[in-house]
Amino acid sequence: MNQTIRKAIFPAAGLGTRFLPATKASPKEMLPLVDKPLIQYAVEEAVASGVESILIITGRDKVSIENHFDISFELETILKEKGKDDVFKQVRAISDMAKISYTRQSQALGLGHAIYQAKDFAGNDPFAALLADDVVDAETPALAQMIEVFERYQAPVIATMQVEGEAISRFGVIDADEVEPGVFKINDMVEKPAFADAPSDLAIIGRYIFTPEIFSAIERTKPGAGGEIQITDAMRLMLKEGRPFYAFRLEGTRHDAGDKLGFLIANIEFALKREDLGEPLREYLRGLQL
Ligand code: G1P
Repeated sequence: MNQTIRKAIFPAAGLGTRFLPATKASPKEMLPLVDKPLIQYAVEEAVASGVESILIITGRDKVSIENHFDISFELETILKEKGKDDVFKQVRAISDMAKISYTRQSQALGLGHAIYQAKDFAGNDPFAALLADDVVDAETPALAQMIEVFERYQAPVIATMQVEGEAISRFGVIDADEVEPGVFKINDMVEKPAFADAPSDLAIIGRYIFTPEIFSAIERTKPGAGGEIQITDAMRLMLKEGRPFYAFRLEGTRHDAGDKLGFLIANIEFALKREDLGEPLREYLRGLQL
């Protein structure tokens, strides 16, 4: 029987070193994009793509993530008393979104190691993994685009986008053949290659659909780039063993909101699209003497 995706995991145990000092005591996943934390965008994307069950992999100082998705009885009571029904509904919707559970990655040993913490949660089911600092602004939610590919190929799918020039070295990069417009069968992949060694201009971005075989591959993966257990290396191991992997070129704009400049740009782009903020912000930006 053909499978689809109902489970998603959100690795959120990283140290957020690119965003210090803001991330010293609070997780980067809670940085606000306009007025919502990054992780809420990613959870909403997953839910809009058909996901019903969510695991957030947290680390130290991540309790604010759990509080955010939980019912805030005190806040809700005050909002109700003050007749702020709209805000009340917004706040309540956050805790009603999906079934969310948490597990802790006690040591930040890399993305592969973080994803491994989802072994019991996934069981025998395929699942999605979303990195909340990669925010994708798309008409069809990014994960829904990928699930459509997964359903047809019944094999793991990763999201990619074209990256020009030296910036490619900041990503996992694939070597692949296009099998239909925007869909690629992957031959090989490498984590953060030097510009000269990059096998293509197709960079991996933080959306993955895995089958449970990924866990045994992670178990056999040695530390790679940066001394970390890299998910790219685990996927590579599966490729070498003849398992098919597909890549999808996302339709939409990806913002690296875990990076200071990317975060500022994402905030401006998202605010400009808002009914309540777009016009006054546009006016302010026009008036800047640059
Ligand atoms: C991770 C992955 C990398 C991918 C990137 C996308 O790297 O390891 O393959 O290209 O996310 O954002 P990180 O940015 O966590 O170093």
